[in-house]
Amino acid sequence: MRLTRYFLPVLKENPAEAQIVSHRYMLRAGMIKQQAAGIYSWLPMGFKVLKRLEQIVHEEQIRAGHIPLLMPTLQSADLWRESGRYDAYGPEMLRFKDRHDREMLYGPTNEEMITDIFRSHVESYKSLPLTLYHIQWKFRDEVRPRFGVMRGREFLMKDGYSFDLTKEDALHAYNRHMVSYLRTYERMGLTAIPMRADSGPIGGDNTHEFLVLAKTGESEVFYDAKVPELKLGDRTVDYDNRDEVAAICKEFTTLYARTDETHDEALFNQIPEERRCIGRGIEVGQIFYFGTKYSEPMGATVTTPDGAKVPVEMGSHGIGVSRLIGALIEANHDEKGIIWPEGVTPFHVGLVNLKQGDVATDAACEALYAALKAKGLDPLYDDREERAGAKFATMDLIGLPWRITVGPRGLANGLVELTSRRSGESEEMTPEAAVAKIVEIYAGI
Ligand SMILES: Nc1ncnc2c1ncn2[C@@H]1O[C@H](COP(=O)(O)OP(=O)(O)OP(=O)(O)O)[C@@H](O)[C@H]1O
Ligand SMILES: [Mg+2]
Repeated sequence: MRLTRYFLPVLKENPAEAQIVSHRYMLRAGMIKQQAAGIYSWLPMGFKVLKRLEQIVHEEQIRAGHIPLLMPTLQSADLWRESGRYDAYGPEMLRFKDRHDREMLYGPTNEEMITDIFRSHVESYKSLPLTLYHIQWKFRDEVRPRFGVMRGREFLMKDGYSFDLTKEDALHAYNRHMVSYLRTYERMGLTAIPMRADSGPIGGDNTHEFLVLAKTGESEVFYDAKVPELKLGDRTVDYDNRDEVAAICKEFTTLYARTDETHDEALFNQIPEERRCIGRGIEVGQIFYFGTKYSEPMGATVTTPDGAKVPVEMGSHGIGVSRLIGALIEANHDEKGIIWPEGVTPFHVGLVNLKQGDVATDAACEALYAALKAKGLDPLYDDREERAGAKFATMDLIGLPWRITVGPRGLANGLVELTSRRSGESEEMTPEAAVAKIVEIYAGI
């Protein structure tokens, strides 16, 4: 993409309404535009990052054996009456009537609808295990939408629903989700810690929230200093192997890590004092085993091998896809702007021409641009007639992890400059070497 042909409405001033850094940078970098409280348009660069996150989520869900589908945003109130949640849900649910006076709602979540799909088409244990998921917009009429996309009213969520014959099978589905989520967040360059969550009125201890540590997080978190060091890395996982999957979950959940909702001071104090950490975190996902809470009232049953009919065992598992962009920026920025991890960056590399209109620098930039694209990379070429300072400021703000700078002085010696956004370090090299280095960095991402 050439910047002169792109739509990147960068703001010079700090928007007054933004209280936290991710919101500020998303507005300033022209990623989003607020349309109403907690409702945003995703401008091209924000949309690009959102699509990239969706892609990672899809890849990891499919790897775990889960199946994508798409349910509508609008739902009928009758379905929610069947589960008893229509009255229970409260003012967060946006309710309205269609022209025929039928009661409708904008879905805040999809347990009822997926249970309806299941009961209409599945009869036997032979169709299990089954996990269906979608990535779809949700609406929750939050009292206080704030922090930009972190607490919106309309937001994008991946929500998956597991169906199993037995509780044991359902817990394997739970574990599979935990591992697939760990891998998803790691690929995005995030450390998201599974913390035991409060299961509310349903009870049971089979729910975890995933929290990204950040000063601006809404939850208070208590954890062992060793927990954020745990990494899945590039080990391969056989998602059908129950013991292997359960062992990974154990590895990530044995050390103490809880939010204020489940915090237990006595247990916490058993950790050596120097490892006791108290901080704040952003909830970027949650997994939940709830058994027959929906299948029973809604009559979603399956026949067992010996011919009996039992309600199906379920769980629901969510990732806050749009909130993740805020969390990513909270965890990756400096005073100049965003610093995208390579796994989620909207463009792989920025190309800065220090003397637009100069025959030699223009030609070198065109050649670099073509070479990067030929390697399957997605460069953003700042081809504006602007001062170097303005070009650097834009690149720093939008946070592409790598920048190639082409100027007349270096070019006289056949050299360009490759700069890391994160470390700020620059290295002079030939254009060919710069392309090769970028190719190497993104190989396998
Ligand atoms: N208002 C919101 N704006 C953006 N993302 C949200 C919002 N509410 C929930 N999410 C995301 O969707 C995920 C799954 O939804 P879930 O029902 O667990 O939310 P929640 O526990 O009600 O969230 P919270 O406690 O932050 O209100 C959450 O982990 C979070 O990342
Ligand atoms: Mg939650």
